[in-house]
Amino acid sequence: MTTVSTNVAVEGDTVAANLAPAIDPRELRDALGLFATGVTVVTAPGSGDQPIGITANSFSSLSLDPPLVLWSLALRSPSIDAFAEGQPFAINILQREQEALALQFARPTDDKFKNVEYALNGYRVPLLEGAQAQLECTVEFTRVLGDHLLIVGRVEAMNTMPSEPLLFYRGAFAQLGT
Ligand SMILES: Cc1cc2nc3c(=O)[nH]c(=O)nc-3n(C[C@H](O)[C@H](O)[C@H](O)COP(=O)(O)O)c2cc1C
Repeated sequence: MTTVSTNVAVEGDTVAANLAPAIDPRELRDALGLFATGVTVVTAPGSGDQPIGITANSFSSLSLDPPLVLWSLALRSPSIDAFAEGQPFAINILQREQEALALQFARPTDDKFKNVEYALNGYRVPLLEGAQAQLECTVEFTRVLGDHLLIVGRVEAMNTMPSEPLLFYRGAFAQLGT
């Protein structure tokens, strides 16, 4: 087991209680991968002809009243400018048959929406066919934290079609019961 030590403040001085090992990014990634998640594709209108679609499992619920959700986007993403405060986007919660779709939106390509069926909402945000849920949001708040942008969205509308979820666990896609 890896232990993490803390610094202890003693009368104004900070004393290292233990020699803290640096957190190894690979070990951290492996540890975080033990948290099974669903899989979403976050969509937004692009600035050009191409809409934006990003596979993301950092999605989480945040608040029911007001209705807020959150996710985070790597700062190196070329899509980062689409998520300024006030901008529209959608969270598409994938179902078990949509693994190929998740892979398609997890790679930077010129035409991410090739052969993808979707409808556009009134803000030109793609809503993916077959998703279990489409949460239509606007960006409420953003903050750069570490190497990601934390994005809090306000849910403005939603459509749900419950079925079996697509899961992500220990770096691989999974399904319930497998
Ligand atoms: C299951 C899964 C979950 C992912 N979750 C995130 C995420 O939450 N945030 C993120 O920035 N990238 C995430 N990625 C990686 C992005 O999907 C990938 O970098 C994609 O190319 C980003 O789109 P972009 O190239 O338009 O920035 C995930 C990839 C996979 C396969």
